[in-house]
Amino acid sequence: MLEDLAHIGRDPATGGYLRDSWSAADMELREWFWGEARRRGLDVREDRNGNLWAWWGDPSRRPGVVTGSHLDSVRQGGAFDGPLGVVSAFAALDVLRERGFEPSAPLGVACFTDEEGARFGVPCLGSRLLTGVLDPARALALTDDAGESLAEVLRRRGRTPEGLGADPATLAHVGSYVELHVEQGRGLVDLDAPVGVASAIWPHGRWRFDFHGQANHAGTTRLEDRDDPMLAYAAKVLAAREAAVRHGIVATFGKVRVSPNNANAVPGLVSAWLDARGAGEEAVRALVAELAEGADVREESWTPIVEFEPLLRDRIAEAAAQTPGSGAVPVLATGAGHDAGILAGAGVPSAMLFVRNPTGISHSPAEHAEADDCAAGVRALANVLEELCR
Ligand code: GLV
Ligand code: MN
Ligand code: MN
Repeated sequence: MLEDLAHIGRDPATGGYLRDSWSAADMELREWFWGEARRRGLDVREDRNGNLWAWWGDPSRRPGVVTGSHLDSVRQGGAFDGPLGVVSAFAALDVLRERGFEPSAPLGVACFTDEEGARFGVPCLGSRLLTGVLDPARALALTDDAGESLAEVLRRRGRTPEGLGADPATLAHVGSYVELHVEQGRGLVDLDAPVGVASAIWPHGRWRFDFHGQANHAGTTRLEDRDDPMLAYAAKVLAAREAAVRHGIVATFGKVRVSPNNANAVPGLVSAWLDARGAGEEAVRALVAELAEGADVREESWTPIVEFEPLLRDRIAEAAAQTPGSGAVPVLATGAGHDAGILAGAGVPSAMLFVRNPTGISHSPAEHAEADDCAAGVRALANVLEELCR
């Protein structure tokens, strides 16, 4: 399945993926999801927020056990962040059927829309809308880099923007949610373990800083006459690094937009996005407050700390450890955001499995997972689903 997806949205120059939500690549990925679901005789539907659900059994009779992830990517992302969870969900279902397992609860495969927020800036857009933590009017007004709003994009894709928003009926189908994901750091590599379980997701958020100045000629404007926002931006990047070290967290300016973006002009406006995360909310909030002082800042998203329910987490670690090839299953916190965190925040019993990434690199074409580790992940996920469906 991963090979079938390998060409979709791939930049041949870098090997990285460009899979913005609702882009042509995303539409192709959605088609693929429908095909895989139908091939297995599952009942597929797209909910009012664009999330996809494939069911073995009828979740309107009793809430089901759901597994899945997302198919969109960051710009120049890797092949595994998202797709590994969706592919493993279908593969685990195949394993269960091969085992002759008859689930007593409906089993669902989910694909959430726009997990990365690469296009419209807000991550986990689909699960935030589903659970009602994001105002649909705000979501519809979000614009991409071309200035197109989510509402316009949805309409162009034949969707109904007016339908967006909290969807308690769909959410009620989800009795529990397990997301398998490629590990995005060095946790499992350093522990020499193919599969791990999540304990928590660090609190994290995104803030847009606008630095205003006066656009002017790079040759004729004397240094003392300049109002150059690039200087304020550069100082803020260095301040963020210093504050991150001091608070023991991470802070990143990874996206910047310079206007008018001429090599021979002092810019008039620099917009830059801060991503800040850490083990504790207080430190993240303190860093942002420090950096925001006197600046023109807007919070674009905030996700509080997620501590996965310990009983479920331990049950999952135990089921995963029953798998030959899994070895000991470490329990790790992660600095990466996931739809499982949004569902957990909405009260859905949720958990995550991680598969080792030998490079320890993610959000980059260098992200990787070995076939044997992916297979160990599928077997662990199948055990977990069997345990939860009992
Ligand atoms: C998503 O991968 C995120 O952590 O931003
Ligand atoms: Mn990601
Ligand atoms: Mn992801």
